[in-house]
Amino acid sequence: MTILVTGGAGFIGSNYVLDWLAQSDETVVNLDKLSYAGNLQNLASLQDNPRHVFVKGDIGDASLVPALLAQHQPRAVVNFAAESHVDRSIHGPGEFVQNNIVGTFQLLESVRSYWGALAAPAKSDFRFLHVSTDEVYGSLHKGDPAFTETHTYEPNSPYSASKAASDHLVRAWHHTYGLPVLTTNCSNNYGPYHFPEKLIPLVIVNALAGKTLPVYGDGQQIRDWLYVKDHCSAIRRVLEGGKPGETYNVGGWNEKANLDIVRTICGLLDSLKPRADGKPYADQIAFVTDRPGHDRRYAIDARKIERELGWKPAESFETGIAKTVAWYLSNQDWVANVQSGGYRDWVATQYGSAATAA
Ligand code: NAD
Ligand code: TYD
Repeated sequence: MTILVTGGAGFIGSNYVLDWLAQSDETVVNLDKLSYAGNLQNLASLQDNPRHVFVKGDIGDASLVPALLAQHQPRAVVNFAAESHVDRSIHGPGEFVQNNIVGTFQLLESVRSYWGALAAPAKSDFRFLHVSTDEVYGSLHKGDPAFTETHTYEPNSPYSASKAASDHLVRAWHHTYGLPVLTTNCSNNYGPYHFPEKLIPLVIVNALAGKTLPVYGDGQQIRDWLYVKDHCSAIRRVLEGGKPGETYNVGGWNEKANLDIVRTICGLLDSLKPRADGKPYADQIAFVTDRPGHDRRYAIDARKIERELGWKPAESFETGIAKTVAWYLSNQDWVANVQSGGYRDWVATQYGSAATAA
């Protein structure tokens, strides 16, 4: 059996592909357009693995995707592909509309056509799993209950609005055409291979480089953090047992203010890799201008996935962040390659033309 994963060279997608191949005997066709966020070095350990088929391409490509589906006959599609950084969406929303909305629309159309022609039981067993975010629900005030699956959609950034639009398309393709879809709305992830434009990896990388640690506004914005491997296990569980048409919120029950996150990382680095001058890394913290429209608080109520599918995160924030800091300390080459842009040459160097072949 085969699954098609989109966006599998990004942060969460590459963790998912690595976990999937380690835990099942199925083949993964990995379709990724290798935007700045796609890094095949994350998958270097799979270079000789015949069960990993990498294809460089766009989910919105109406020739390539149908050809891939016809060739590989996947039993499921897991859609991670998206532009994912809120700050970039503020500077350039067009890419988010194109990749996240138009791309998902086109992918749904390609999948609908493939699925429609499947014979029983492949047709009823097929699943399209759309990976989304808690940011579609908007911002909570202190004391508000956490987001449930029935919370109103109130996206505030171009990123969250584009994800909300894609969620609506996925929902409509189920209700109108019967496509067996599943949607997961997950809180902020962190862990290995996280691109250092996002808060946690940026702080680790900047701290070690002696740079400032930029905290937006007052640093009291709250996010609900989940270790990336726990997100991967939740997606596996939803794919296996989720009910078509349903959405599942995924979270780590770890609400933390940004400033506390930054201080925790500084404390870990103080013990694991003390500064040469003996001063604390927290001295590098700098409060900077706030992000426009900055959502104040996200919090996920993850009781449905626990009740219905028996999923719970394995990591606490304390264990997950310790693993993450340790990973960045022992993968300085990965960081250096990302910072130099060297990872972008990896496709040509390591995969040659095979990486672009359908
Ligand atoms: P990422 O930016 O690290 O990776 C995205 C990947 O998708 C990249 O490899 C990129 O090349 C690829 N991609 C983008 N547009 C594409 C297109 N049109 N066709 C093919 N490939 C394309 O993102 P991430 O943090 O790994 O997030 C993955 C998914 O999970 C996204 O859909 C995101 O909205 C969702 N999500 C992320 C978080 C988080 O905290 N990072 C939390 C909840 C949900
Ligand atoms: P980020 O990792 O970009 O994820 P998201 O915006 O999707 O939640 O940011 C997490 C939080 O950290 C968010 O409240 C913005 C804040 N932040 C900073 O304070 N400084 C930074 O340099 C970055 C990148 C984010």
